[in-house]
Amino acid sequence: MRFDVITIFPTMVEAGLAEGVVGRARGRGLLDVVVHNLRDYTTDRHHVVDDVPFGGGPGMVMKPEPFWAALAQISAEGPPPDAVLLMSPAGRRLDEAGVRRFAGCRHVVVLCGRYEGIDERVRTRWVTDEVSIGDYVLSGGELPALVLIDAVARRVPGVVGDEQSVEEDSFARGVLDYPHYTRPAVWDGMAVPEVLTSGHHQAIRQWRRYEALRRTFERRPDLLETAALDDDERTWLRAWQTQGNIGQ
Ligand code: ADE
Repeated sequence: MRFDVITIFPTMVEAGLAEGVVGRARGRGLLDVVVHNLRDYTTDRHHVVDDVPFGGGPGMVMKPEPFWAALAQISAEGPPPDAVLLMSPAGRRLDEAGVRRFAGCRHVVVLCGRYEGIDERVRTRWVTDEVSIGDYVLSGGELPALVLIDAVARRVPGVVGDEQSVEEDSFARGVLDYPHYTRPAVWDGMAVPEVLTSGHHQAIRQWRRYEALRRTFERRPDLLETAALDDDERTWLRAWQTQGNIGQ
């Protein structure tokens, strides 16, 4: 899968892509990420990328021409990209379904905005999806682009060594992840739940499903409206709902 990222802070984006799962995926050729410096697509001596807003008001707006030049060049190099994303707090909030959809693309271009935003004509002509990573405003689209690429890369086959761990991650099944423990079995007076050291795989699986659902019920009950639950899970849920509290 290929990403092209267009930004005025290429070193910031490169730094976030150099290590960990994404860094390894790039090294192994599973993920190709090309980071473009927007200023390289300007034609003036000072490499200006912003200008005052028409209609007045505070802040600056990113000029259309450099984005146009970058997008035209990327498009001319091969088949048109499957998606052109604009990272913006005004976009649709990214969720697991969105991540999976983008992971199904072969080529995605990501535009990182700064200042008050990007000239609307860039969005009108080029952008297929405006994407937000949450209801808060960051200083630019670079961190959101890194968040998106990381989440999408994890869904590309082969990128995460253990496919099952991706499937068990929070949200993959529509519920939150269960709690995890490692050695030592007792730490600072706190013991690991007995079932996890029992070697009884069926009981461990059951405990994990129960705890995952319990967390979801406590923290994110909204997810339960669409989660695919089996009979056991529906029984546990009904009990908690009628009890009004949770006990095992
Ligand atoms: N740019 C600034 N804030 C953002 C957000 N929350 N999501 C995506 N892009 C952004």
